[in-house]
Amino acid sequence: MKTYIVGNFKLNFTVGEASIYLHKLLKALPIYRDVEVAIAPSTIALQPLSLQIDRHKMKLAAQNAFYRDYGAFTGETSFSQLRGIVDYAIIGHSERRHIFGEDDKCVQKKVAAAVRNRITPILCIGETESERAFGETADVVRDQLIGGLAEVSDDEIDRVIVAYEPVWAISSTKAAKLATPDEVAEVVKLIRKIMKETYGEEVAEKMPILFGGSVNSSNAGAYLTVPGVNGLLIGGSSLILNEFVDIIEIAKRVRS
Ligand code: PGA
Repeated sequence: MKTYIVGNFKLNFTVGEASIYLHKLLKALPIYRDVEVAIAPSTIALQPLSLQIDRHKMKLAAQNAFYRDYGAFTGETSFSQLRGIVDYAIIGHSERRHIFGEDDKCVQKKVAAAVRNRITPILCIGETESERAFGETADVVRDQLIGGLAEVSDDEIDRVIVAYEPVWAISSTKAAKLATPDEVAEVVKLIRKIMKETYGEEVAEKMPILFGGSVNSSNAGAYLTVPGVNGLLIGGSSLILNEFVDIIEIAKRVRS
C-alpha cells in the first residue's frame, strides 16, 4: 500500500500564493512511486492548479464539496464539477462538522457523491476532548465511520480512505495536545476492527488509514510507524513548504 501525505491548507493562501507554493513543491519533489502526495488548497485555486500540477508527482484534493450535482444550491460547488480536477476530497473534517454543522447524514451523502464522481473520499473521523474524557471515543469513532460510509456500496468500499483526527490534537484547537503513538494505535486498531466486522477482513486490511493532528517534521516519523497508519493529513505544517517537503522525505525513508 502507498503512504499518503496530504496537506490541508484550510482557508489560507490566495490563488497566486498557492500557485507559487505548488511551483516550488514540484521543483523540490522527485517522483516517489510509493508515497502519494496531495495538497488541498481552497476551492477557488483547484482549477488553475489542476493545469499546473504534474500528476506523476502529486495530486490535488478538495477540502469540501456539496453532495448534489447541480441545482438551486447557492454558493456550493459539486463533486461533479470537481471531477477530473481533483483526485481526492477531504470529507467530514472536524471543522466542517463543528463550525458548519455537518452531521453524519450530510457526511455520508458527500462520501457517496465523491465515489460516484470518481473522487477518492478521505473521510475524517475523531472525538473531541470532552468525548474522550467521558470515555466515548469508541462510540464516536464507530458512529462517524459507519455513518460516513453508509451510502457506499460494497463494490465501492475499496475506494475510500479514512483519516483519524482527534479534534483535541488539531493545532487550531485551543490548547491542542499531541496524541501519543499509543493513543493513535489504539483507535486505528479499533477502526480496522469495525471495518472487519462490517465489510470483512480484506477490505479492513486494504483500507488506507491516515492520522492527523499537529503533525510536523519532528513527530511525523513516530506517527508513520504506528501499526496500521498509512499516511498523514497535515494542516498547519503543510503551509510551510520546507516542513511539508521534510515530512514527505520522512515518509519515503520510513517506507524504505
Ligand atoms: P493540524 O491540522 O495539522 O494543523 O493540526 C490537521 C487537520 O485539521 O487536518
